[in-house]
Amino acid sequence: MRYNIAPLYCRPWTLNGITPRLIESHYENDYGSALNRLNNITDELERLDPATTPAHVISRLKRDEAAALNSTLLHELYFASLGGDGRAVPDELASAVTRDFGSVLRWRQEFIALAEALAGGSGWVLLTYVPRDGRLVNQSAADHTQSISGGVPILAIDMYEHAYHLDFGANATAYVAAFMRNIDWDAVQTRYRNAVKVEPPPKLVQKQWPELPAMTVEEVKSMLDAGERIQIIDTRPRHYTTRAQDMMEGAVWRDPERVEEWIGELSKTDPVVTFCVYGFHVGCETAETLRKAGFDARYMAGGHYAWKAKKGAVKLFE
Ligand SMILES: [Fe+2]
Repeated sequence: MRYNIAPLYCRPWTLNGITPRLIESHYENDYGSALNRLNNITDELERLDPATTPAHVISRLKRDEAAALNSTLLHELYFASLGGDGRAVPDELASAVTRDFGSVLRWRQEFIALAEALAGGSGWVLLTYVPRDGRLVNQSAADHTQSISGGVPILAIDMYEHAYHLDFGANATAYVAAFMRNIDWDAVQTRYRNAVKVEPPPKLVQKQWPELPAMTVEEVKSMLDAGERIQIIDTRPRHYTTRAQDMMEGAVWRDPERVEEWIGELSKTDPVVTFCVYGFHVGCETAETLRKAGFDARYMAGGHYAWKAKKGAVKLFE
Protein backbone atom coordinates (compact mmCIF):
# COMPACT_ATOMS: atom_id res chain seq x y z
CA MET A 1 0.00 0.00 0.00
CA ARG A 2 1.30 3.45 -0.99
CA TYR A 3 -0.14 6.59 0.54
CA ASN A 4 -0.24 9.52 -1.86
CA ILE A 5 0.35 13.14 -0.99
CA ALA A 6 -2.80 15.30 -0.84
CA PRO A 7 -2.53 18.77 -2.38
CA LEU A 8 -2.76 21.63 0.09
CA TYR A 9 -6.49 22.20 0.58
CA CYS A 10 -6.48 25.82 1.73
CA ARG A 11 -5.11 28.74 -0.29
CA PRO A 12 -2.32 30.11 1.90
CA TRP A 13 -2.36 33.64 0.41
CA THR A 14 -5.98 34.13 1.48
CA LEU A 15 -5.41 33.45 5.16
CA ASN A 16 -5.86 36.25 7.65
CA GLY A 17 -2.88 36.69 9.98
CA ILE A 18 -1.25 33.36 9.06
CA THR A 19 1.58 33.66 6.53
CA PRO A 20 2.06 31.45 3.47
CA ARG A 21 5.59 30.81 4.74
CA LEU A 22 4.23 29.11 7.86
CA ILE A 23 1.76 26.98 5.90
CA GLU A 24 4.41 26.02 3.31
CA SER A 25 6.88 25.00 5.98
CA HIS A 26 4.22 23.05 7.86
CA TYR A 27 2.93 21.30 4.75
CA GLU A 28 6.36 20.46 3.35
CA ASN A 29 8.23 19.52 6.48
CA ASP A 30 5.69 18.14 8.91
CA TYR A 31 2.89 16.78 6.74
CA GLY A 32 5.39 15.62 4.11
CA SER A 33 7.54 13.87 6.70
CA ALA A 34 4.56 12.12 8.24
CA LEU A 35 3.46 10.80 4.86
CA ASN A 36 6.97 9.65 3.89
CA ARG A 37 7.45 8.02 7.28
CA LEU A 38 4.12 6.26 6.84
CA ASN A 39 5.16 4.86 3.47
CA ASN A 40 8.55 3.73 4.81
CA ILE A 41 6.94 1.96 7.76
CA THR A 42 4.33 0.38 5.49
CA ASP A 43 7.11 -0.94 3.22
CA GLU A 44 8.95 -2.35 6.20
CA LEU A 45 5.82 -4.06 7.51
CA GLU A 46 5.06 -5.57 4.12
CA ARG A 47 8.61 -6.89 3.76
CA LEU A 48 8.91 -8.58 7.12
CA ASP A 49 7.83 -12.13 7.84
CA PRO A 50 5.46 -12.02 10.84
CA ALA A 51 6.19 -15.69 11.56
CA THR A 52 9.90 -15.05 12.23
CA THR A 53 10.09 -11.37 13.22
CA PRO A 54 10.23 -10.77 16.97
CA ALA A 55 6.88 -9.61 18.35
CA HIS A 56 8.38 -6.43 19.83
CA VAL A 57 9.66 -5.38 16.39
CA ILE A 58 6.21 -5.80 14.82
CA SER A 59 4.61 -4.03 17.77
CA ARG A 60 6.96 -1.04 17.49
CA LEU A 61 6.39 -0.73 13.76
CA LYS A 62 2.62 -0.91 14.18
CA ARG A 63 2.71 1.81 16.84
CA ASP A 64 4.81 3.98 14.54
CA GLU A 65 2.44 3.23 11.67
CA ALA A 66 -0.58 4.37 13.71
CA ALA A 67 1.18 7.60 14.69
CA ALA A 68 2.30 8.37 11.12
CA LEU A 69 -1.10 7.51 9.63
CA ASN A 70 -2.99 9.67 12.11
CA SER A 71 -0.49 12.49 11.70
CA THR A 72 -1.05 12.33 7.94
CA LEU A 73 -4.84 12.26 8.24
CA LEU A 74 -5.00 15.00 10.87
CA HIS A 75 -2.66 17.30 8.94
CA GLU A 76 -4.88 16.91 5.87
CA LEU A 77 -7.89 17.77 8.02
CA TYR A 78 -6.05 20.72 9.55
CA PHE A 79 -5.23 22.29 6.19
CA ALA A 80 -8.82 21.65 5.10
CA SER A 81 -10.10 23.42 8.23
CA LEU A 82 -8.56 26.73 7.10
CA GLY A 83 -9.48 29.12 4.30
CA GLY A 84 -12.76 30.70 5.44
CA ASP A 85 -13.53 33.80 7.41
CA GLY A 86 -14.29 31.94 10.63
CA ARG A 87 -17.43 33.97 11.24
CA ALA A 88 -20.87 32.48 10.83
CA VAL A 89 -21.36 28.76 11.34
CA PRO A 90 -23.85 27.64 8.65
CA ASP A 91 -27.35 26.89 9.95
CA GLU A 92 -27.37 23.10 9.78
CA LEU A 93 -24.04 22.75 11.54
CA ALA A 94 -24.91 25.53 14.00
CA SER A 95 -28.04 23.68 15.10
CA ALA A 96 -26.06 20.44 15.56
CA VAL A 97 -23.45 22.31 17.61
CA THR A 98 -26.19 23.97 19.67
CA ARG A 99 -27.87 20.59 20.24
CA ASP A 100 -24.64 19.04 21.53
CA PHE A 101 -22.92 21.97 23.29
CA GLY A 102 -25.77 24.26 24.30
CA SER A 103 -24.71 27.07 21.95
CA VAL A 104 -22.08 27.87 19.34
CA LEU A 105 -20.46 30.23 21.83
CA ARG A 106 -20.16 27.49 24.42
CA TRP A 107 -18.65 25.14 21.83
CA ARG A 108 -16.19 27.85 20.85
CA GLN A 109 -15.16 28.58 24.44
CA GLU A 110 -14.54 24.89 25.12
CA PHE A 111 -12.62 24.36 21.86
CA ILE A 112 -10.39 27.40 22.51
CA ALA A 113 -9.79 26.36 26.11
CA LEU A 114 -8.67 22.90 25.01
CA ALA A 115 -6.33 24.38 22.39
CA GLU A 116 -4.83 26.94 24.76
CA ALA A 117 -4.29 24.24 27.34
CA LEU A 118 -1.89 22.56 24.89
CA ALA A 119 0.32 25.67 24.70
CA GLY A 120 3.83 24.73 25.65
CA GLY A 121 2.97 21.08 25.00
CA SER A 122 1.75 19.50 21.82
CA GLY A 123 -1.23 17.71 20.39
CA TRP A 124 -4.47 18.20 18.54
CA VAL A 125 -7.90 19.54 19.36
CA LEU A 126 -10.64 18.02 17.26
CA LEU A 127 -14.35 18.48 16.76
CA THR A 128 -15.50 14.93 16.19
CA TYR A 129 -18.81 13.30 15.24
CA VAL A 130 -19.49 10.05 17.12
CA PRO A 131 -21.88 7.81 15.12
CA ARG A 132 -22.70 5.62 18.17
CA ASP A 133 -24.60 8.47 19.77
CA GLY A 134 -25.11 10.73 16.76
CA ARG A 135 -23.42 13.66 18.47
CA LEU A 136 -20.47 15.99 18.25
CA VAL A 137 -17.74 16.21 20.89
CA ASN A 138 -14.59 18.25 21.30
CA GLN A 139 -11.54 16.16 21.92
CA SER A 140 -8.04 16.99 23.07
CA ALA A 141 -5.31 14.58 21.96
CA ALA A 142 -1.84 14.75 23.47
CA ASP A 143 -0.35 12.88 20.54
CA HIS A 144 -1.28 11.68 17.06
CA THR A 145 -2.81 8.41 18.16
CA GLN A 146 -5.43 9.48 20.66
CA SER A 147 -8.50 9.62 18.50
CA ILE A 148 -12.00 8.64 19.51
CA SER A 149 -12.76 5.13 18.35
CA GLY A 150 -15.23 5.18 15.49
CA GLY A 151 -15.38 8.98 15.57
CA VAL A 152 -15.18 11.16 12.45
CA PRO A 153 -13.16 14.34 13.08
CA ILE A 154 -14.49 17.30 11.08
CA LEU A 155 -12.33 20.18 12.38
CA ALA A 156 -8.75 20.08 13.64
CA ILE A 157 -6.28 22.52 15.11
CA ASP A 158 -2.65 21.46 15.22
CA MET A 159 -1.12 22.46 18.57
CA TYR A 160 2.42 21.28 17.88
CA GLU A 161 4.80 24.22 18.05
CA HIS A 162 5.79 23.77 14.39
CA ALA A 163 2.22 24.82 13.51
CA TYR A 164 2.69 28.37 14.81
CA HIS A 165 6.22 29.19 15.96
CA LEU A 166 7.32 30.87 12.72
CA ASP A 167 4.52 33.43 12.90
CA PHE A 168 3.61 33.62 16.55
CA GLY A 169 6.70 32.57 18.50
CA ALA A 170 5.54 30.96 21.71
CA ASN A 171 2.27 32.94 21.70
CA ALA A 172 -0.14 30.04 21.30
CA THR A 173 -3.10 32.21 22.30
CA ALA A 174 -2.57 34.51 19.30
CA TYR A 175 -2.23 31.47 17.04
CA VAL A 176 -5.48 29.92 18.31
CA ALA A 177 -7.28 33.24 17.76
CA ALA A 178 -5.89 33.42 14.21
CA PHE A 179 -6.97 29.83 13.54
CA MET A 180 -10.51 30.64 14.68
CA ARG A 181 -10.58 33.65 12.31
CA ASN A 182 -9.73 31.40 9.36
CA ILE A 183 -12.01 28.41 9.84
CA ASP A 184 -13.72 27.36 6.63
CA TRP A 185 -17.15 26.61 8.11
CA ASP A 186 -18.69 25.58 4.80
CA ALA A 187 -16.08 22.86 4.47
CA VAL A 188 -16.66 21.80 8.08
CA GLN A 189 -20.41 21.57 7.40
CA THR A 190 -19.78 19.43 4.32
CA ARG A 191 -17.70 17.06 6.44
CA TYR A 192 -20.46 17.04 9.07
CA ARG A 193 -23.03 16.08 6.42
CA ASN A 194 -20.78 13.23 5.30
CA ALA A 195 -20.13 12.12 8.87
CA VAL A 196 -23.81 11.83 9.79
CA LYS A 197 -24.24 9.33 6.95
CA VAL A 198 -22.07 6.88 8.91
CA GLU A 199 -24.39 4.31 10.44
CA PRO A 200 -23.98 3.72 14.16
CA PRO A 201 -22.75 0.26 15.19
CA PRO A 202 -25.70 -2.16 14.97
CA LYS A 203 -27.64 -2.53 18.20
CA LEU A 204 -28.42 -5.90 19.70
CA VAL A 205 -31.56 -7.33 18.09
CA GLN A 206 -33.62 -9.93 19.96
CA LYS A 207 -34.68 -11.86 16.87
CA GLN A 208 -36.90 -14.26 18.77
CA TRP A 209 -38.92 -11.41 20.28
CA PRO A 210 -38.93 -8.61 17.71
CA GLU A 211 -42.18 -7.09 19.01
CA LEU A 212 -41.53 -7.43 22.72
CA PRO A 213 -41.07 -4.04 24.40
CA ALA A 214 -37.85 -3.55 26.32
CA MET A 215 -36.71 -1.00 28.85
CA THR A 216 -33.17 0.18 29.38
CA VAL A 217 -31.63 0.03 32.84
CA GLU A 218 -31.58 3.83 32.79
CA GLU A 219 -35.35 3.95 32.23
CA VAL A 220 -36.02 1.45 35.02
CA LYS A 221 -33.74 3.37 37.35
CA SER A 222 -35.45 6.69 36.68
CA MET A 223 -38.87 5.11 37.31
CA LEU A 224 -37.60 3.79 40.64
CA ASP A 225 -35.98 7.11 41.52
CA ALA A 226 -39.23 8.91 40.73
CA GLY A 227 -41.07 6.57 43.10
CA GLU A 228 -43.30 5.19 40.33
CA ARG A 229 -45.13 1.95 40.98
CA ILE A 230 -43.34 -0.85 39.16
CA GLN A 231 -43.11 -4.59 39.74
CA ILE A 232 -39.59 -5.81 39.07
CA ILE A 233 -39.01 -9.51 38.78
CA ASP A 234 -35.61 -11.18 38.70
CA THR A 235 -36.18 -14.29 36.59
CA ARG A 236 -32.69 -15.68 36.54
CA PRO A 237 -32.92 -19.46 36.21
CA ARG A 238 -32.93 -21.45 39.46
CA HIS A 239 -29.66 -23.23 38.64
CA TYR A 240 -28.01 -19.83 38.23
CA THR A 241 -29.37 -18.35 41.44
CA THR A 242 -27.81 -21.14 43.53
CA ARG A 243 -24.49 -19.33 43.01
CA ALA A 244 -25.84 -15.78 42.73
CA GLN A 245 -24.73 -13.51 45.53
CA ASP A 246 -26.59 -10.34 44.82
CA MET A 247 -29.72 -9.10 43.14
CA MET A 248 -31.19 -5.82 42.05
CA GLU A 249 -32.52 -3.66 44.85
CA GLY A 250 -36.26 -3.36 44.48
CA ALA A 251 -36.62 -6.67 42.63
CA VAL A 252 -38.02 -10.01 43.80
CA TRP A 253 -36.78 -13.32 42.46
CA ARG A 254 -39.33 -15.65 40.94
CA ASP A 255 -38.65 -19.00 39.31
CA PRO A 256 -39.17 -18.58 35.55
CA GLU A 257 -40.08 -22.28 35.33
CA ARG A 258 -43.10 -21.79 37.61
CA VAL A 259 -44.76 -18.64 36.33
CA GLU A 260 -48.22 -20.09 36.94
CA GLU A 261 -47.44 -20.38 40.67
CA TRP A 262 -46.65 -16.67 41.17
CA ILE A 263 -48.49 -14.88 38.40
CA GLY A 264 -51.46 -14.40 40.72
CA GLU A 265 -49.38 -12.15 43.03
CA LEU A 266 -48.98 -9.52 40.31
CA SER A 267 -51.07 -6.42 39.81
CA LYS A 268 -52.47 -5.83 36.35
CA THR A 269 -52.50 -2.07 36.79
CA ASP A 270 -48.80 -1.52 37.56
CA PRO A 271 -46.15 -2.20 34.92
CA VAL A 272 -44.01 -5.32 35.27
CA VAL A 273 -40.31 -5.47 34.36
CA THR A 274 -38.57 -8.82 34.09
CA PHE A 275 -34.92 -9.54 33.63
CA CYS A 276 -32.45 -12.42 33.61
CA VAL A 277 -28.66 -12.64 33.73
CA TYR A 278 -27.74 -10.82 30.51
CA GLY A 279 -31.19 -10.01 29.18
CA PHE A 280 -31.17 -12.49 26.34
CA HIS A 281 -33.64 -15.24 26.83
CA VAL A 282 -35.41 -16.03 30.07
CA GLY A 283 -36.37 -12.45 30.92
CA CYS A 284 -37.85 -12.01 27.42
CA GLU A 285 -39.71 -15.30 27.56
CA THR A 286 -41.22 -14.45 30.93
CA ALA A 287 -42.23 -10.96 29.79
CA GLU A 288 -43.95 -12.48 26.78
CA THR A 289 -45.81 -15.01 28.93
CA LEU A 290 -46.97 -12.18 31.21
CA ARG A 291 -48.07 -10.03 28.27
CA LYS A 292 -50.14 -12.90 26.89
CA ALA A 293 -51.81 -13.09 30.30
CA GLY A 294 -52.74 -9.40 30.05
CA PHE A 295 -49.95 -7.76 32.05
CA ASP A 296 -48.12 -4.60 30.98
CA ALA A 297 -44.79 -6.46 31.01
CA ARG A 298 -41.44 -5.59 29.47
CA TYR A 299 -37.95 -6.98 29.82
CA MET A 300 -34.96 -5.03 31.00
CA ALA A 301 -32.32 -5.00 28.23
CA GLY A 302 -28.91 -6.19 29.40
CA GLY A 303 -30.38 -7.89 32.48
CA HIS A 304 -28.71 -8.20 35.87
CA TYR A 305 -25.23 -7.35 34.59
CA ALA A 306 -26.31 -4.20 32.74
CA TRP A 307 -27.94 -3.05 35.99
CA LYS A 308 -24.71 -3.73 37.87
CA ALA A 309 -22.54 -2.15 35.17
CA LYS A 310 -24.67 0.98 35.52
CA LYS A 311 -23.95 0.83 39.27
CA GLY A 312 -27.60 0.22 40.10
CA ALA A 313 -28.19 -0.66 43.77
CA VAL A 314 -28.05 -4.34 44.69
CA LYS A 315 -28.89 -6.33 47.80
CA LEU A 316 -27.91 -9.78 49.03
CA PHE A 317 -29.68 -12.53 47.12
CA GLU A 318 -32.55 -13.85 49.19
FE1 LIG B 1 1.65 19.80 12.28
